[in-house]
Amino acid sequence: MPPPYKRHVFVCTNRRPEGNPKGCCASKGAEEVRAAFKEEMDKRGLKGGMRANAAGCLDTCAFGVAVVVYPEGTWYGGVKVEDVPEIVDQHLVNGRPVERLMMPFSRKEKAGS
Ligand code: FES
Repeated sequence: MPPPYKRHVFVCTNRRPEGNPKGCCASKGAEEVRAAFKEEMDKRGLKGGMRANAAGCLDTCAFGVAVVVYPEGTWYGGVKVEDVPEIVDQHLVNGRPVERLMMPFSRKEKAGS
């Protein structure tokens, strides 16, 4: 199914050279996180209606692996492969963002909205 998707996940897979002070999501396992999103989405038959894309730097490097989910605009940080099934089940399928994995500013936005 073409866009618009019900939910669209962007995973920063940006890679910087070793020793760069900003670090990067690739060195924290971003490719594996993206692959886990694709796999978990496929397992649940979500392919077509939802999509997980690789993204360049999302400018939240300190919180990597950085993930943002639209249309809500929910930002997740420090995402690990083992967190992905929870995000897929709770947020992508049931529409309930996973509070404990949200970046601090995303939590505040939610509280203020
Ligand atoms: S390198 Fe991932 S947010 Fe910057």
